[in-house]
Amino acid sequence: MMLVTGKEILDKAHKEGYAVGAFNVNNMEILQAVIAAAEEEKAPVIIQTSEGAIKYAGIDYLSTLVRLAAEKATVPVALHLDHGTTFETIIGCIRNGWTSVMIDGSHHPLEENIAVTNEVIKIAHACGVSVEAELGRLGGVEDNISVDEKDARLTHPDEAVKFVKETGVDSLAIAIGTAHGKYKGEPKLDFERLTTIKNLLNIPIVLHGASGVPEDAIQKAVSLGVNKINIDTDVRVAFTEGVKSVIVNKPEEYDPRKICGPAKDEMKKVVKAKMKLFGCSGKA
Ligand code: G3H
Ligand code: 13P
Ligand code: ZN
Repeated sequence: MMLVTGKEILDKAHKEGYAVGAFNVNNMEILQAVIAAAEEEKAPVIIQTSEGAIKYAGIDYLSTLVRLAAEKATVPVALHLDHGTTFETIIGCIRNGWTSVMIDGSHHPLEENIAVTNEVIKIAHACGVSVEAELGRLGGVEDNISVDEKDARLTHPDEAVKFVKETGVDSLAIAIGTAHGKYKGEPKLDFERLTTIKNLLNIPIVLHGASGVPEDAIQKAVSLGVNKINIDTDVRVAFTEGVKSVIVNKPEEYDPRKICGPAKDEMKKVVKAKMKLFGCSGKA
């Protein structure tokens, strides 16, 4: 199949009430593990690359690898830029075949976030590429922070309405208490805020920092309208555990295929479990 747009995958998820996994990919092994999982689960999938991934592997390598993976796949695959911050990277991705881009202007004040998002949308939409934006600051919401402080970080429903009205963005990443990377304590999600925002916006909602979030919280977030769930850390950990198991149990091994093979199996298991949890298994 040809690569499909992020919008095509997410609009269906929004309409039918499930979430699609968006997995960060930095090399061939991670990509193959994610695609194999999607095939076995008959799930649509979003392959996403950060600016760091592009720096590590090269925009041409990633573009060629993911396009090939999509063409060979029997399930819909979109190629998405995760946390795009510069105009140059975003245009580079559009020129190299990405079918979806994120412009992360969440660190800017509202008006500036709207302005940079609109600059990207104008070009991306003219090229048939979907756009995700972010409003609010990701980061754990610990019990000891004040209500005001919490409110300042998490996405404000009125601002979200203004943002979507003034940009026409295809999907919106919101801050409801998740954080990137490994959690120290258990993350607490603001489900009331999610419900309010979803009802007001009625567009696909994106959850970042979903690794390590308890399964029941993920299920609840999906039932309340999250349609794209970003996973990086849990797959990184699976890769590393797979590599470690070989190094520890067979220290004399030096064939990279025998070291990366078990890592691929570990990653595939994790990705399949996420797809089942998100409700996208069988939705291809
Ligand atoms: O949200 C960030 C992703 O986990 C990507 O991380 O910039 O280290 O590739 P990275
Ligand atoms: P995690 O690494 O916490 O899974 O976050 C992934 C993410 O949000 C990528 O944008
Ligand atoms: Zn993220």
